[in-house]
Amino acid sequence: MPFDTPDDIFHPQHYAKVRLPAMQAETLPPWCYTSQTFYDREVARIFSKQWVFIGRGDRIPNPGDYFTVDYVGVPLIIIRDRAGNPRAFANSCRHRGARMMTGEGNCNVIRCPYHSWAYSPEGRLVAAPEMDATENFDKAEWGLTPVKLETLGGFMWINLDPDSVSLRDYLGDLAQHIASYNMDDMVCVRRKEYDVGCNWKLFFENFAEQYHIPFVHSGSLYKKKRQILPPDETHGNYVAKFVAHKGSRALLEGETGFPPIPTLEGRYVEGTYYPSIFPNTMFGCCIDVMWYVELQPQGPRRTKVIVGSCVPRANLQRPDFEETMQKYYGRWDTTIPEDIVALELQQQGLESPLAKPGRFCKLERLVHDIDNWILDRVIGNAR
Ligand code: FES
Repeated sequence: MPFDTPDDIFHPQHYAKVRLPAMQAETLPPWCYTSQTFYDREVARIFSKQWVFIGRGDRIPNPGDYFTVDYVGVPLIIIRDRAGNPRAFANSCRHRGARMMTGEGNCNVIRCPYHSWAYSPEGRLVAAPEMDATENFDKAEWGLTPVKLETLGGFMWINLDPDSVSLRDYLGDLAQHIASYNMDDMVCVRRKEYDVGCNWKLFFENFAEQYHIPFVHSGSLYKKKRQILPPDETHGNYVAKFVAHKGSRALLEGETGFPPIPTLEGRYVEGTYYPSIFPNTMFGCCIDVMWYVELQPQGPRRTKVIVGSCVPRANLQRPDFEETMQKYYGRWDTTIPEDIVALELQQQGLESPLAKPGRFCKLERLVHDIDNWILDRVIGNAR
């Protein structure tokens, strides 16, 4: 922790220089990436209040399919109900609170291992043994605690705040920008997890800036020519950039892959669209495929990073599908570890008692936007 970390860590005066216009501003103070107190405020004001990305709906394609997740310490069950709708519930039994499910799989009922209360995939309590002498006990009143879950483009978001706005309102005009990628008709063909020794914000910031590309990715991405454009103007809880270039950004230089997505329109046929959706999701939308990056904070110093590879469903029928996918995997398996090395070094430097705020480059304007969005909620009252 820096020597000069103040006791009144949330006083706005400590962030006044972050609030300046980007080219005059300083970066977030180092304690924002190391402090448990700052992280706890992020959990309370961001991860417990905003829509957080929870993955692809095709991870649970059939009724009864489920997976469990501990999101910022909250155990959850994500399950597809018998009508085909994905749902989210607290993974805490309504009897005496036991965690009920682990891992992933398929079930007819969610059964608590302690006293065998059982719940339907819709969350209704359907069995509660030996409860006949308990007075005024109506099973209809003891269903699982629901968590809001909404979808866009085949992806799922949850919100722990029952009073939140809808996902559509939260994302603003993002749906229009990604419409022609036809993500509803994509399939996630690989989901890869990384345990990364850095604060979640470092990963989120890194995705939105182009400054590091020639240095961190000098032997991989930088070989491909690109036209750097100003960041998009966005209306919703996300920032975005579009990079114009030839070919697919999901492949390394000289490689060819799948044909372009047939429904693509406008500028999206000539480059890659990179929306970073607050607080925990990044999309890389290419002319042929897309990948997502999902962040699950594990505390101020660790982040579970999940990278999903999504392709148009029709590609699965190609005889060269597996062979071609290896080229895309080769790209992601090269560049994502390159980022991780840089970000873990950044975390180590920020841990120093001598660490101080820095300045932004013109290629880091979105990092400035991101940091101010976070401050709006951590020290301000934005919802
Ligand atoms: Fe779940 Fe008792 S705690 S049935």
